[in-house]
Amino acid sequence: MSNEPPILEGPRVRLCLALPDDVPAIVRYYTSNKAFLEPFDPTRPPEFYQEPLWLERVARDREDFRQRRALRMFLFERSHPETVIGSVNFNDVVAGVACFCNLGYGLAEAKQGAGLMREALELAIPYVFSRPFNLHRIQANYMPHNRPSGGLLRRLGFTVEGYARDYLLLNGRWEDHVLTSLTNPNWQPHYTT
Ligand SMILES: CC(C)(COP(=O)(O)OP(=O)(O)OC[C@H]1O[C@@H](n2cnc3c(N)ncnc32)[C@H](O)[C@@H]1OP(=O)(O)O)[C@@H](O)C(=O)NCCC(=O)NCCS
Repeated sequence: MSNEPPILEGPRVRLCLALPDDVPAIVRYYTSNKAFLEPFDPTRPPEFYQEPLWLERVARDREDFRQRRALRMFLFERSHPETVIGSVNFNDVVAGVACFCNLGYGLAEAKQGAGLMREALELAIPYVFSRPFNLHRIQANYMPHNRPSGGLLRRLGFTVEGYARDYLLLNGRWEDHVLTSLTNPNWQPHYTT
């Protein structure tokens, strides 16, 4: 089983697990996009915008990758490799008879509407649908008014499966969500102990 974290590159974007050296860029990304991302995120404590928390998270994300619990990557524009422009997180991996996870993502305000998140997810989804993760299903949920997110998921082939009232506590409010998922047509059977 490969324990090497992936580096995924498309024509315009690069996706990878962060290193400690990336922490200042991560903090800059979240600080400069605070107002834009706030409505889509849990209420963040002040430490979220400071380096010590991210140094811990960088280490945690590597361990979660190693244990196949999650794949959390940051998005860099290849023309500006030192700047974080977004995040792509495959969280809550459930193995065994489930083989599914929850997908979350966000992109810098200045980079909206250029197809960059689509390019990133078109790299990341085939990766988690292959070994070592070999996921069978990715779940992704969005607030009904979040048209960019709904449109992105539709273009990627996710299908709507339901509607959950008061599903997530975001920015201090329980928000309804449209539930969608994508299943893996090339999933490889394995034995479950
Ligand atoms: C959701 C989010 C990631 C979508 O970002 P995005 O840039 O709209 O997504 P895409 O990469 O799919 O880009 C699609 C748009 O780029 C346009 N585009 C421009 N050039 C393009 C190209 N070369 N290729 C593809 N699309 C291109 C498309 O026409 C489309 O615009 P439209 O929606 O006005 O038709 C972003 O809005 C975001 O970060 N929102 C805040 C956080 C959030 O909502 N997170 C998800 C919670 S569920």
